[in-house]
Amino acid sequence: MRLSVIGCGYLGAVHAAAMASIGHEVVGIDIDERKIATLAAGEAPFFEPGLSEILADGIASGRLTFTTDFAAAAGAAVHFVGVGTPQVKGGYAADLTYVNAAVDALLPHLSEGDIVAGKSTVPVGTAASLAPRITAAGATLVWNPEFLREGFAVQDTVDPDRLVAGVPAGPDGERATGILREVYHPSIAKGTPFIVTDYATAELVKVSANAFLATKISFINAMAEIAEVAGADVTMLADAIGHDVRIGRRFLGAGIGFGGGCLPKDIRAFSARAEELGRGESVAFLREVDDINMRRRERAVELVVQGLGGSVHGKKVTVLGAAFKPYSDDTRDSPGLDVAVRLHGLGAVVSLTDPEAIDNARRQHPQLTYVADRDEALTGADAVVLVTEWDEYRRDLTPEHAASLAAGRVVVDGRNAFDPAAWRAAGWTYYGMGRP
Ligand SMILES: NC(=O)c1ccc[n+]([C@@H]2O[C@H](COP(=O)([O-])OP(=O)(O)OC[C@H]3O[C@@H](n4cnc5c(N)ncnc54)[C@H](O)[C@@H]3O)[C@@H](O)[C@H]2O)c1
Repeated sequence: MRLSVIGCGYLGAVHAAAMASIGHEVVGIDIDERKIATLAAGEAPFFEPGLSEILADGIASGRLTFTTDFAAAAGAAVHFVGVGTPQVKGGYAADLTYVNAAVDALLPHLSEGDIVAGKSTVPVGTAASLAPRITAAGATLVWNPEFLREGFAVQDTVDPDRLVAGVPAGPDGERATGILREVYHPSIAKGTPFIVTDYATAELVKVSANAFLATKISFINAMAEIAEVAGADVTMLADAIGHDVRIGRRFLGAGIGFGGGCLPKDIRAFSARAEELGRGESVAFLREVDDINMRRRERAVELVVQGLGGSVHGKKVTVLGAAFKPYSDDTRDSPGLDVAVRLHGLGAVVSLTDPEAIDNARRQHPQLTYVADRDEALTGADAVVLVTEWDEYRRDLTPEHAASLAAGRVVVDGRNAFDPAAWRAAGWTYYGMGRP
């Protein structure tokens, strides 16, 4: 099938390349000329395992092209819209400027019978408000939210754990469902559940999934706060409660909390939308989830200050990680980067390293010192803080090796990823999150 993908960021670039990899003919469209030039050259504009390969293959096959010209969307049967929906400046709501602009730019190029498939994460009610414009152009709007995880985005797009399509009632909706089934045929044939709903349900599936995940993380971080005052170990607690299949161990990693381009802004936008709908109280707990999450960053900073005897001023603090999670170079709302910035604000001489995210981090916070080489970053450190559990740190950095480079022996494990006994045995004063 011929497809267009509007917006070629973390979601759209992967979607375009993945759709080409399963045999579709795809044009990716974005307003960012530099990003399009990079993609058109077959290079990934950001770090995502497996993306470079399917981009290069798609371009070499002639099935995948990229352009800034919306006219290239003409002739595609399905137009996926995956532009950004960031938090508005000075508020909690989602900024729908880019979604509206993308739809407006697409409208003149739509033909009778085309499908416009929204993939961006949007407040419930957005599809219903966009639909009349799209219907007037003879096309049908569906909402097909995206659940990919950065770091596993290619796999999650080609082989998602479920597909959700919010469609209008009646024959247009039935026809659109059939076309989406064709688009995703390889995955559906392998047994991926394909759930067809109305617009509102599809939009809510996405935001409620993220609200649930954020809540699960903040739940265990709240337990970490209690463990800290009670002298308990939250990692053992998580293991023990995680054996209950109704609870499950995943997303119970206590630490400095969640971040990235999705969870924080999505739970805030959900709160804002619920308020607009007169049901703010139903998700009032999400404010608490957000607050717990933000407090854990401050806790990591407190532990560094404590470890260094009450002040970090003039002390060299090595921060391991900048990406909001491993296998991604995304530093949007990264808790680890925030910890680094807070330490810098307290007068620490921060030396920050990350295998993939230094460029993005430097663009956001040019005031910090970035060191590409891990060992060089560790050299002469008074304290070491783990904020992103890359294998290079969690698995490959031994406490003995770290001790051979650092000046001090204070380690703050912001992800509870190190073995406290091993670090203590090597002479370090170890601080975990929610551990004695
Ligand atoms: N990143 C993820 O892991 C992920 C996962 C699921 C859902 N989402 C959702 O997908 C959407 C996109 O997220 P992202 O992380 O890819 O963001 P991003 O910032 O990486 O990409 C957004 C892209 O849209 C482009 N764009 C903006 N206005 C445009 C316009 N008018 N026409 C064409 N292109 C335009 C930008 O130039 C940018 O390349 C958001 O709603 C997000 O919540 C993201």
